[in-house]
Amino acid sequence: MSTVIRFHAHGGPEVLRVERQSVGEPGPGQVRLRHDAIGVNFIDTIFRQGIYPVALPSVPGVEGAGVVEAVGPGVEKFAAGDRVAYFLSPGSYAAHRLIEAEALVRLPEDVSTEQAATVLTKGLTAWAALNGFHRLQAGETILVQGASSSVGLLLARWAKARGATVIGTAGSNKRDALRADVDHALVSSDKDLSAQILRIAPQGVDVVYEFVGKATFAASKESVRDGGTIVNIGAASGAPDIDAPSLAARGVKVLGGPMAQHLKGDALVEATTAVFQALRAGTFGQIDITRYPLSEAARAHEDIAARRRSGSAVLVP
Ligand SMILES: NC(=O)c1ccc[n+]([C@@H]2O[C@H](COP(=O)([O-])OP(=O)(O)OC[C@H]3O[C@@H](n4cnc5c(N)ncnc54)[C@H](OP(=O)(O)O)[C@@H]3O)[C@@H](O)[C@H]2O)c1
Repeated sequence: MSTVIRFHAHGGPEVLRVERQSVGEPGPGQVRLRHDAIGVNFIDTIFRQGIYPVALPSVPGVEGAGVVEAVGPGVEKFAAGDRVAYFLSPGSYAAHRLIEAEALVRLPEDVSTEQAATVLTKGLTAWAALNGFHRLQAGETILVQGASSSVGLLLARWAKARGATVIGTAGSNKRDALRADVDHALVSSDKDLSAQILRIAPQGVDVVYEFVGKATFAASKESVRDGGTIVNIGAASGAPDIDAPSLAARGVKVLGGPMAQHLKGDALVEATTAVFQALRAGTFGQIDITRYPLSEAARAHEDIAARRRSGSAVLVP
């Protein structure tokens, strides 16, 4: 028997229950995985709340990394003992799980399972932002709304390494920590946020990467240049009022949706390689990792709701 987190009703962090399960043997095309580390993502809290409804009961989480314990019939690419990770495969908050072998990425020798659980989904999202939704050019000025988010911070650091000028926003208590990572660190709740941005970039920014949504989108609209681009990756504060007609009249492209649309076939291989290479090269810098015991998953969700955390979070079985 092994530990699993489940919710039987949508709601706050308190709906997450610690339960025991027997995982059993992998079926055709599957492996049984022992997780070393489980990545925590904002989207886990969205599923838990039922904003995107899921069938109940449900095991939260979409990513993890660990060691293959057993392979099912027909699995040739992996064997017991292989170190692997995966992203966007629901049901990861568990010490052990069955998963399709097709979903797995083999880890390079120099990438630990904890590092993989920390950067894979977040790094792939940043890669899709900088190469898929919009292909970032050196010299562009970008605004990252929520550069303090796990994904936003990786994106900001990667964009700077690629020669962009980066304006990043954060909550007032996180702005100082952000100064080292961006060219201009601003407070997302400042009433005159767009005026501050337009003093830095008088024509407006070329691209906005939006992670916050409702609370910051008015400033994003006011700060993007005519003919620029807004990439709506996340809406951590709620759905924004986009006002598509007025943006279209200014020639502003508004893009968004799941990052997975940019990670198909060869692009996924390229993106995964790029994420591990950026990790290795130090492009992501020091990533603060908050580790929670798997049984304290509810505490991890409380910390996200209270905006108490920075860096990336993992659950440890
Ligand atoms: N499109 C995709 O495929 C995709 C993939 C991954 C993530 N996402 C989305 O991207 C967003 C970030 O994800 P994450 O895992 O990196 O989240 P995270 O680490 O929990 O960060 C959440 C961010 O939202 C900010 N925030 C929350 N409420 C706010 C408010 N009321 N006003 C201003 N800022 C607020 C936080 O600011 P402070 O920390 O500074 O307080 C922080 O920067 C989420 O919306 C997530 O769903 C989308």
